[in-house]
Amino acid sequence: MSDRIEDKAIENQEKEEEEPELLKKQYEFMEDLPGVGPATAQKLRELGYHTVESLAMATGRELEPAGITEKKAFNIIAAARSSMSLSFVRADELFKMRQPVLRLTSGNKGLDALLAGGLETQTITEFYGEYGSGKSQMCHQLCVNVQLPAERGGLDGAALYLDTENTFRLERIVQMATHLGLDPEKVAKNIIYAEAFTSDHQMFLLENADEVIKANNVKLIIVDSLTAHFRGEYIGREMLAPRQQRLNKHMHKLIALARAFNAVAVVTNQVMAQPDIFFGDAIHPIGGNIVGHTSHTRIYLRKASQGPVRIARLVSSPYLPEGEEAFRVTENGIEDVSEEQKASRRHNR
Ligand SMILES: Nc1ncnc2c1ncn2[C@@H]1O[C@H](COP(=O)(O)OP(=O)(O)OP(=O)(O)O)[C@@H](O)[C@H]1O
Ligand SMILES: [Mg+2]
Repeated sequence: MSDRIEDKAIENQEKEEEEPELLKKQYEFMEDLPGVGPATAQKLRELGYHTVESLAMATGRELEPAGITEKKAFNIIAAARSSMSLSFVRADELFKMRQPVLRLTSGNKGLDALLAGGLETQTITEFYGEYGSGKSQMCHQLCVNVQLPAERGGLDGAALYLDTENTFRLERIVQMATHLGLDPEKVAKNIIYAEAFTSDHQMFLLENADEVIKANNVKLIIVDSLTAHFRGEYIGREMLAPRQQRLNKHMHKLIALARAFNAVAVVTNQVMAQPDIFFGDAIHPIGGNIVGHTSHTRIYLRKASQGPVRIARLVSSPYLPEGEEAFRVTENGIEDVSEEQKASRRHNR
């Protein structure tokens, strides 16, 4: 049996060697894909597909409203995928493919260490916590850090900021950039901002973000807050299922973008206290299991008893152990806590 699989693999390999052009073709624009003429490309754009990368992540059914047959949709997706080599791979190959996962510094050494070097590309990192716990501050800091060169923990890229609560402040960006010795004007130019007015608008913006991400070398996609509009609009028990369904779709779009463009995706989430729970952890992030299952790394932020100190707790990660680290929110941004402050925190606990 395994011999047969091996034979097949060798056969495929030979085919690949015979037809390298066909299998490894790189399509830069949608119109380069076989079967996509200007009219189809236009219809696909109307559906929110602007790049080969986003088509590679689509399903046949999603493309049907463009007025194309299932077979044609399948061929377009297959061609887009071949361009990005998305298919079954051996685990050792997977390891090689995961090499390009890049890491972005949080601005705090302890938190970076908890995350084995920083926030990773291709997955979603969720920061959840109560108001004032530092979620939006962290998002601002990441928008600046992503522009740093790799040797300083950045990704040499731009940021996309989807703001749902109108809490983005350019003044904070200027303070943080200046502290890092960057030109604030340049840093501001590399943050692409959009305010989402409703949950539908929020979804629409992300569904149409692929082109702007590609054109601006966006390496960080932020949705702050992921859940606020959904929470405000879908009220009552009977709305829970449709809310979760929409949130699920939104999160999947975000993961697809993070993978396609090797970008870090960050979402923030408020918490809900459950007073009827007497035992265990009574603080729960909004969105329940769907958000929990699709966001790969979850970090719970809380305020220390006083002052600018915040505690970040790595609650779940696909491969890292749980742990806690303190950081400070100051005028300069997200900073380390000094050894003395750490000692006094231990003392006060
Ligand atoms: N310029 C600054 N200097 C020092 N600390 C600041 C500065 N700006 C904001 N902060 C701190 O950050 C806190 C706000 O944090 P942030 O906006 O990140 O909260 P959040 O977790 O996003 O809350 P919400 O759930 O309401 O969105 C302030 O209460 C303050 O402690
Ligand atoms: Mg906030």
